[in-house]
Amino acid sequence: MVEKNCLKRNGEKYVELISEEQLKKRIKELAKKLSDDYRDKCPIFIGVLNGAFIFLADLIREIDIDCEVDFVKISSYGGGRVSLGYIKSKKGFDAEVDGRHVVVVEDIADSGRSIKFLEKMFAGTNPASLKFVSLLLKEDNAVVDFKLDYVGFNIPTKFVVGYGLDYDQKDRNLRSIYVLEE
Ligand code: IMP
Ligand code: MG
Repeated sequence: MVEKNCLKRNGEKYVELISEEQLKKRIKELAKKLSDDYRDKCPIFIGVLNGAFIFLADLIREIDIDCEVDFVKISSYGGGRVSLGYIKSKKGFDAEVDGRHVVVVEDIADSGRSIKFLEKMFAGTNPASLKFVSLLLKEDNAVVDFKLDYVGFNIPTKFVVGYGLDYDQKDRNLRSIYVLEE
């Protein structure tokens, strides 16, 4: 018998870590805070592809102020469950960020290298402010110094999938977030 809140996929066991209801509730809270903090500032939310697309879509629909949306695309994990340790830019942002309030939206911060890389992407531009939000933070796994301004959930150092996060490009469509059991 399959236990409740577990999935069996491709011979692996997925254990639910954050349910759809918990995600919805926390995203509403984050959206409320962002709406309050950016009232009358018309921020540009810049989603980091691919992982953040679902989070960003749900987040902005809970936001009740004028805002704009753009995307960047970077890659770090080379596939599998282990970070390659180096980051590549696959697509830069198109938005004119000069003088604008920019909020970068990530799915997860693990080593912190991606956040650092994204900070550098904005060096030389002149936004009125630059902040970072990540749905998930593996709080014990940082290998570089980085700062997040808004965090959805602190999670243990485990490989997670679902709600936009992938394992070899799959599982992004799962509605909850799951830990892949070793
Ligand atoms: P960092 O650069 O090590 O902080 O890793 C950040 C990026 O690696 C995230 O934006 C994800 O795309 C990916 N990543 C890190 N941890 C996980 C995970 O547990 N599951 C799926 N992707 C992950
Ligand atoms: Mg990501």
